[in-house]
Amino acid sequence: METQILKADELDAVCEKAGEILKKGGLVAFPTETVYGLGGDAFNPDSSRKIYAAKGRPSDNPLIVHIAELSALDKLSADIPQTLYDLAEAFWPGPLTMIIKKRESVPCETTGGLDTVAIRMPDHPVALKLIRAGGGYIAAPSANASGRPSPTLASHVAEDLSGRIDMIIDGGEVGIGIESTIVDLSGEVPMILRPGYVTHDMLSRILGHVESDPTLMKKTEGGRPKAPGMRYRHYAPKGDMQLFAGDMACVAETINKKVARSSKKCGILCCDESAGLYDNAVIRSLGSRSDLRSVALNIYRALREFDDEGIEEIYAESFDTDGFGQAVMNRMLKAAGYNIINTEETK
Ligand code: TXA
Ligand code: MG
Repeated sequence: METQILKADELDAVCEKAGEILKKGGLVAFPTETVYGLGGDAFNPDSSRKIYAAKGRPSDNPLIVHIAELSALDKLSADIPQTLYDLAEAFWPGPLTMIIKKRESVPCETTGGLDTVAIRMPDHPVALKLIRAGGGYIAAPSANASGRPSPTLASHVAEDLSGRIDMIIDGGEVGIGIESTIVDLSGEVPMILRPGYVTHDMLSRILGHVESDPTLMKKTEGGRPKAPGMRYRHYAPKGDMQLFAGDMACVAETINKKVARSSKKCGILCCDESAGLYDNAVIRSLGSRSDLRSVALNIYRALREFDDEGIEEIYAESFDTDGFGQAVMNRMLKAAGYNIINTEETK
């Protein structure tokens, strides 16, 4: 299959063409404000099967259904809690996915066999226009091959999925760079299954009590993450990755020693404030510690660049886990397989 790559300049024409592909059961990758998504018609089981095949993703891992208007909710669920409307008013369109009980008519192929459905209204003009053009319901996981970092550029999608999908709409770089916050509203207490740009505090302000899946920030032996997708080793770079916590000077000293002792090709993920403390490795600053948004936007791109450069060992600084930092560290911990060393304890 030849994959067409179209710039999102003539938005109406591009989305009309892409909408036709979706209605016929084809797949279109498109930009959202978080990461690029790989879209198919959420009510067409064949489209969902094709999404799993194109990504090489296990089919028990449910997809997020993307909508463009609140009125679309009724076809997805007969049991919509007031909390969904309250959160939608505060955060939609935006980087928040909500899980509620699904209607029987929502295909099991789309929800990975679960009786719940994950729903999001993205905040991106291309995504919203495409959803409307494609019939109102687009099932879309992140548009990476399974196990690769999520794409923040159309070229990342092309690297992973060219020849396996019908079209890629190139809308330039995304805005946030890590995937949406997921909150499960189908149980007694709202529970965060994946941290993102919408933080625990922001959700608590609307909902009162909110819990977080206890497996988010540490590797747990017995505990299983509640979002099926969080169980797989996602975001895995090709090189071995280790994270280092502690005071900046201490971290830099430890990393420099590791690099000096290694015979492998090493990469370092640091911040603007510490970049000058390193040498003898491929060094990538993720941005300033005072601007977590830039750090989030650069993580996946830096990991892909390390893969392309054949980096065999990755040494990375840690970031504070306050606010949006929880989402940033959740992704870094997953990329590192939860391999984190506290440099102040080992001194
Ligand atoms: O920002 C995002 O959410 C991006 C863009 C494209 O919207 N999408 C995305 O989709 O990250 P994906 O498939 O890569 O991640 C969706 C996660 C998976 O971990 C999946 O297991 C979980 O959501 N999920 C989906 N439906 C679920 C459900 N009914 N119950 C529990 N977890 C669910
Ligand atoms: Mg994903």
